[in-house]
Amino acid sequence: MNLGLDGKKALVTGGARGVGRGIVLALARAGADVITCCRQDSEAARSLERELAEIGGKHHVLRKDLVEPEQIASLFDEIRVHFGELDLVVNNAGAISHVPYEKLTLAEWHRIVDTNLTAAFLVTQHAIPLLGSSGSVVSIGSKSAEVGIPLRAHYTATKAALVGLTRSLAKEYGSTGLRFNVLALGVIATEALDAMPAEQREAMIERYAAKTALGRLGTPAEVADAVLWLASDLSRYVTGATIHVDGGIS
Ligand SMILES: NC(=O)c1ccc[n+]([C@@H]2O[C@H](COP(=O)([O-])OP(=O)(O)OC[C@H]3O[C@@H](n4cnc5c(N)ncnc54)[C@H](OP(=O)(O)O)[C@@H]3O)[C@@H](O)[C@H]2O)c1
Repeated sequence: MNLGLDGKKALVTGGARGVGRGIVLALARAGADVITCCRQDSEAARSLERELAEIGGKHHVLRKDLVEPEQIASLFDEIRVHFGELDLVVNNAGAISHVPYEKLTLAEWHRIVDTNLTAAFLVTQHAIPLLGSSGSVVSIGSKSAEVGIPLRAHYTATKAALVGLTRSLAKEYGSTGLRFNVLALGVIATEALDAMPAEQREAMIERYAAKTALGRLGTPAEVADAVLWLASDLSRYVTGATIHVDGGIS
């Protein structure tokens, strides 16, 4: 199906690994030009550059730490030079840690809030002047914001906040045509899962698959399909929504 994304300009934060990488590759295959960023100069980032070169199109994998506001400003300097405008922004970069609430330090709270929420606030603020009247902003949330998870109060607080940010921006900018939505993910199998010791990995897959209606974990490609839809005109009447991509997890 032609989604009309040929030549569209997309920014996906945190695209070197995991869910973000799946989104970047799907957009590139759909004909969009993609800028993505990650923190580290890793083999993952270099292999993404190679894969994007094979797909073709105008893509850039930049090293920017979104916890630093000046690096977000510098990311947008490069976006203005390379693209000049944007059609899609995906706030995907995220961090998580598992910490008992009484041991959660202010520094760790700030690290998670700065990565998952403040970066999305600043990236979106920089992006709005570059987005045309059919622009779409997608923030990657989590089902955990709705149900809560022990040891991740700080993480779930940021994902719940993304929902409020999105709903308010949908109303503030609705008259301009700009759309803002959240994809609330269940458990998505990424390289992080592959890197676990076999026994731990199998236990995790079994435990979380059993919680889903579909009886399995999701894939980055399945999240990317939802992003393609939100990037396309097919979703033109959808804004302020939280869409669950979670296999019916409870
Ligand atoms: N995987 C899941 O099951 C799941 C479930 C619910 C929600 N989510 C959400 O989905 C998103 C992606 O998760 P994931 O599992 O794919 O994560 P991941 O495998 O840890 O990948 C995160 C990506 O974001 C980048 N990143 C992190 N902090 C950054 C920063 N400060 N500046 C720039 N880039 C940064 C990383 O860069 P480097 O490669 O340089 O480290 C990496 O490329 C997150 O928002 C997460 O909360 C994931």
